[in-house]
Amino acid sequence: MNSEEKIISAVKELFSGIRFTAEPAGLYDPLRYMIAIGGKRLRPWLCLTAYSLYKDDFTPQILGPASALEVFHSFTLIHDDIMDKSPMRRGVDTVWKKWNEDTAILSGDVMCIDSYSRLASAPAGVLTDVLALFSRTASQVCEGQQYDMEFESMETVPMDEYIRMIGLKTGVLLACSAEMGARIAGAGEEDCSNLYDYGYNLGLAFQIADDWLDAYGDEKVFGKPIGGDIVNSKKSWLTVRAYEKADAQTAAELSRAMAVVPSDGEERRSKIARVMAIYDRLDVGSDARAEISRLTDKALSFASKVASGEGFRLLDSFATRLVGRSR
Ligand code: IPE
Ligand code: IPE
Ligand code: MG
Ligand code: MG
Ligand code: MG
Repeated sequence: MNSEEKIISAVKELFSGIRFTAEPAGLYDPLRYMIAIGGKRLRPWLCLTAYSLYKDDFTPQILGPASALEVFHSFTLIHDDIMDKSPMRRGVDTVWKKWNEDTAILSGDVMCIDSYSRLASAPAGVLTDVLALFSRTASQVCEGQQYDMEFESMETVPMDEYIRMIGLKTGVLLACSAEMGARIAGAGEEDCSNLYDYGYNLGLAFQIADDWLDAYGDEKVFGKPIGGDIVNSKKSWLTVRAYEKADAQTAAELSRAMAVVPSDGEERRSKIARVMAIYDRLDVGSDARAEISRLTDKALSFASKVASGEGFRLLDSFATRLVGRSR
């Protein structure tokens, strides 16, 4: 079994030997930029962690698909930042902000295609299954992103629909990452399915943590503007929970605050302050932390079905890092 140190160093090295030299620069520079500014690289990390439960050697047959997950994820972020009008990611300008929206659309497209060519290095014996898993996941991410946008204009969203939406936009890619690592290592169906569920529940916890950080994080560490979800009237976990807890008067107050479409910095700050005051009054931040722990425990219950001892510790440690994050 690979140690956590070996996995972490493989993740760090993942793109160091890869040169994105293709032309025209206008198409490939944003791709080079997104990979160079990095990120936490959680999806390849999870893929290599699951793989390590079964095999030790990091050959191109696993490193290619692991890098595919990161390139695909980075592509979704480029398009997500257009949709969310986000000016900053990973502490720097987003692609649409640095170049323009047309460039962000097309560079995102080429990254999506690039991820499929990386996936093709999976071992021939599992390639069909890996391609099916990845393609299904990619469609589900789009479905989740569509629900996310549709929810912006709905006054309230039931908690189960919100959970389904984040399961699609975020949960399935982490689930796919874990399953893919195991599948490429030759794991059986039952393990693949339990690792999928481990990744899925971690993904839910991770998105709730992202929603929490969007309101309560430190912008310099988080690398994204704080309050962006509120400005966009996103139905984050905090909003959905606030409506569950609020009495009629507070719910009406929240709806009035959320309905504002700010036109300048001052109006943005005032909208964020009004909504945050309601979140604080209802203490939904603490509820989010409790839900993150509950989902992490649920993820670990699936992990315990596939691994014990050192293997379980790898999955446990990954889970702790994932949800304990501040960026
Ligand atoms: C951001 O993902 C999008 C979400 C699913 C919340 P990450 O937080 O993994 O982003 P990077 O890759 O580390 O920047
Ligand atoms: C993004 O969710 C999920 C995907 C990109 C599929 P968010 O919109 O919350 O992610 P951030 O906060 O911009 O990273
Ligand atoms: Mg989004
Ligand atoms: Mg976003
Ligand atoms: Mg977010």
